[in-house]
Amino acid sequence: MEEYYEIDNLSKSIGTPFYLCEEDNFIANYQNICQAFQSRYKNFILGYSYKTNYLPYLCNIVKNFGGYAEVVSRLEYDLALAVGQDPSRIIFNGPLKSFPDVELAIENNSILNIDSWYELDFVEEIAKQNPTKPVQIGLRINFNFSDEEGRSHIQSGLATGRFGFAIEEPNFSQVVSKIRQFPNIVVNCLHGHTSTSTRQVWVYEKITRTLCDLAAAYFENTVNFIDIGGGIFGKVPEVMKSGPTPSFDDYAEAVCKIMTSHSWVKENSPYLILEPGVSIVADSLSFITKIIDIKTVNNKNFSLVDGSIYNIKPSMHSINHPFKIVKEFKDDRQIVTNFVGYTCMEKDYLLKDVACEAPEKGDFLKIYNVGAYTIVMTPPFINSAPPIVVKIGDQFKVIRARQSFDDFFKNYLIEMD
Ligand SMILES: Cc1ncc(COP(=O)(O)O)c(C=O)c1O
Repeated sequence: MEEYYEIDNLSKSIGTPFYLCEEDNFIANYQNICQAFQSRYKNFILGYSYKTNYLPYLCNIVKNFGGYAEVVSRLEYDLALAVGQDPSRIIFNGPLKSFPDVELAIENNSILNIDSWYELDFVEEIAKQNPTKPVQIGLRINFNFSDEEGRSHIQSGLATGRFGFAIEEPNFSQVVSKIRQFPNIVVNCLHGHTSTSTRQVWVYEKITRTLCDLAAAYFENTVNFIDIGGGIFGKVPEVMKSGPTPSFDDYAEAVCKIMTSHSWVKENSPYLILEPGVSIVADSLSFITKIIDIKTVNNKNFSLVDGSIYNIKPSMHSINHPFKIVKEFKDDRQIVTNFVGYTCMEKDYLLKDVACEAPEKGDFLKIYNVGAYTIVMTPPFINSAPPIVVKIGDQFKVIRARQSFDDFFKNYLIEMD
């Protein structure tokens, strides 16, 4: 009941729907990942994947804990600078960078992972202009992950990943000889992020081993960072599991075992970088929306809410998130219902065919685990983007205000003669 009054009070001041930032979960995930890896390999760096959720409030927590920012665009790079991240603690990834982006990252001593040939051309240009200055870059390496049955584990079952440089010959030798034309280009990082659908431990073993072997073979005196990317599982709620979900310790044990036994690592003690997104932030936001109406159509129950599927899963996947109905008074009636959103889309189901306490007009629906790829992937659709609040002690603080009409339309030409 207390939760109901808290939400009801908030709804009177900021309206509904809104996101609630559960910062304790974020901090616990951050610390648990660091503990798992650092206890097994000392030189560990956590680079928080901004794209997964670049809420500045969370980016600040990462900075204050000494974490790095992993960014994939100039927009995210500039945000990292704006929250006060030391530029040498920014990892700049992504397939699209302009010449000025590359120039700035090199000037700032950021960790700059080159994804493709056109970026190498930029780097060469910079190396030519500054022949006496070291130009530090990282290389993103392309991985394929087919299992014993020949099934690819790359996201969406794609047979070939599209990022980074292939290590099959003659491709990699061409990359190396292009770089070696300029003695001041220094390869300080090898990067191997690969998004897989199964997020299994053997994927990370392969990435770690391959990157260390490549460093030993080609860049033994210059590589200082082995960056295995993100994509690991965090705490997955039971109702959302569709297969095995290794723990932070499982990943850390496998990866650090390779690190601590590799002869090149033993001699050079590089930093190991992990770039977690989902695993750190998924359970750091919940979504709170108000139940506006209840109806039955063809014996099917519908509960209309003032939020939308786009607010909780813009990728439109079909898994129901964990949820709770927040009511003023307990109701013992159980029903199976569908929580549907405010948009005009037939498929706007926030929760489909779920059994729960019978919802009523005026109740609130709280949906958990909506921190990853939600606020960053939701262009405001039909309604403006909801506010975000965080609870600090017994106070709530608005960390993103509701968009106004002016925020929404300020870049459009509205009046035309
Ligand atoms: C380069 C890079 N690092 C880290 C991540 C974070 O992945 P996740 O949110 O699955 O942990 C991604 C996601 O695609 C990525 O592209």
